[in-house]
Amino acid sequence: AQRTANAAETQKAYYSPPWADMNIIGIAGSSGSGKTSLAVEIVQSLNLPWVIILSIDSFYKSLSPEENALAHKNEWDLDSPESIDFDLLVEKLIELKQGKRTDIPVYSFEQHQRLDKTLSIYSPHVIILEGILALNDPRVLNLLDMKIFVEADPDVCLSRRIVRDVRERGRTIEGTIKQWFSYVKPVFQRYVEPQREVADLIVPRGMQNKMAIQMIVNQIRQTLKEKSTKHNEELEKLGQQIEDY
Ligand code: C5P
Repeated sequence: AQRTANAAETQKAYYSPPWADMNIIGIAGSSGSGKTSLAVEIVQSLNLPWVIILSIDSFYKSLSPEENALAHKNEWDLDSPESIDFDLLVEKLIELKQGKRTDIPVYSFEQHQRLDKTLSIYSPHVIILEGILALNDPRVLNLLDMKIFVEADPDVCLSRRIVRDVRERGRTIEGTIKQWFSYVKPVFQRYVEPQREVADLIVPRGMQNKMAIQMIVNQIRQTLKEKSTKHNEELEKLGQQIEDY
């Protein structure tokens, strides 16, 4: 019994399971700056299993009927940090680090609400966490292995946003422009742009910046290699300790 207790103590001291070492890459930047496209490029260039893109958009809070009516008139702030359920996001990231299967909310931009369904994810090795406020919450910053800020010309951002919101999010051109100047642009200046200060890397031109993508991918590969070497060393040490008993 004493040996088992000692082995358990040794295990606690040396062994950290690989999922606890999950790599999380944060990508922040203006709406329409190309965060999602950059994330997709990184995933494709990495070409590894167990890599997922997690959008902070999934963690938008649902609105009350009154707020919802205002949102439909483009008169509600959906850009400030208060609009995102960061508590839930942090909870989910910690669950994943503990190796648990996690249910991620599914959000509807047409309805401005969370839907009844969820999406289950399990044991990723790399998470690309993208969203306008990916580098905002200190608890999230603590969990990130790399912090990226994507930069793009504001005219390009607005043009992309109009096209996307009208095609994919059930909006009108007038409504999209109204929301941009009432909320998106001022909140960008107040909360989104200052995140440059905490970024490790500022990427101009998003997914077109092949050099930056290659550097990011090399860095992720290097970190994964280091973590895997450390993990194997821990396992060897543990095996040795158990043999010695
Ligand atoms: O994908 P992207 O980073 O552009 O998503 C963030 C944007 O989505 C925010 O700028 C916010 O104005 C917008 N949004 C919206 N309607 C919602 C939730 C977010 O227009 N219901």
